[in-house]
Amino acid sequence: MAHLAIEGVSKLFGTTFAVRDFSLEVGDGELVCLLGPSGSGKSTLLRMIGGFERPSGGTIRIDASDVTSLPPERRPTGMVFQSHALWTHMDVFNNIAFGLKLPRLPKSEIRERVENALTLVGLGDYGRRMTTQLSGGQQQRVALARSLVLEPKVLLLDEPFASLDQHLRERLREEVRDIQQRLGITTLFVTHGQDEALALADRIVVMRDGRTEQIAPPSIIYRQPQTAFVAGFIGSMNFVQSRARNGVCEHPLFPLAVPVEDGPVTLAARPEALTIQLSDRPDAGTVHRIVDFGTHKMVDVDLADGSRLKAMVAPDDRVRTGMRVEPGFGSFFVFRDNALVHQSTPVKDAAEAGRLLPV
Ligand SMILES: Nc1ncnc2c1ncn2[C@@H]1O[C@H](COP(=O)(O)OP(=O)(O)O)[C@@H](O)[C@H]1O
Ligand SMILES: [Mg+2]
Repeated sequence: MAHLAIEGVSKLFGTTFAVRDFSLEVGDGELVCLLGPSGSGKSTLLRMIGGFERPSGGTIRIDASDVTSLPPERRPTGMVFQSHALWTHMDVFNNIAFGLKLPRLPKSEIRERVENALTLVGLGDYGRRMTTQLSGGQQQRVALARSLVLEPKVLLLDEPFASLDQHLRERLREEVRDIQQRLGITTLFVTHGQDEALALADRIVVMRDGRTEQIAPPSIIYRQPQTAFVAGFIGSMNFVQSRARNGVCEHPLFPLAVPVEDGPVTLAARPEALTIQLSDRPDAGTVHRIVDFGTHKMVDVDLADGSRLKAMVAPDDRVRTGMRVEPGFGSFFVFRDNALVHQSTPVKDAAEAGRLLPV
């Protein structure tokens, strides 16, 4: 178990910052996901923690010790990359044992630790297989075992399952979560997939352009996004551009109370917070498409200005394509210049709000 502290870390490549003044503390046994679009600095940050890249500024501490300038092999960290880089001329056992041979441990202890690591990742009987005879998922399990066998204090995973199909990815991430909790190992997990972050993380760090947009537990990130970027990046979100004047939104379809200074505003509402009512007003929207997901239906509503909104309704709702509907925001956020300036309190139960016609 270990405590990781990243303080004001930056990384310059030429004249551009890949990571800029980044700070984060990860507690003993905590799993934090770094989530952000491609190019937001996630890998660079992880590589600096693992010692594969030297920061341009700032410090990285693990427990009491400053590891900022230590090479990877002198840090108590283990890293798993997206592409596993296993040795193809060695069997699974020796791939995992390789790192242990360097510190010159007795043979019996090497055997025991490798077998424990293999069992941990569900490959107990695969020690003598060549790595070329493994599926992609099995290869990533070996890569994970190779890190775990060194008993790192901090585990660093950089999109380890990104190349695998969805079902396998979901299964492996659940296994990683189980192993991580069983060992109580402090973990940073990089992903660009919001589902992965929501499923895995104790806390999520949303990154953009090398900076932190928000750090919070998954349920807070979803329900209380602090920036328009986070609101749009996590889950589905409807955005409507308008202006506030005298505390009211000027958009004719959304004359909502917005207690903010006069000026441009971006209204935002989740599909489950968007209501739709049958309407014959001239600026009503039109139901363009309905997708039935079984647990709910997703309704695309086209507005006269060319924008499209998504409303989630109950699976037995009788909405039809072509219907004229008036959208409303059951609960909503107001952003200005990316920053949250107001959040309404939900006015209706989400399931109730999403129902257009009685069954
Ligand atoms: N070795 C490098 N040399 C120059 N630029 C780099 C290097 N590594 C990463 N970058 C740049 O730093 C930024 C962040 O990259 P990266 O950390 O790989 O992002 P992510 O992992 O979030 O996709 C990108 O703009 C990328 O092009
Ligand atoms: Mg990356």
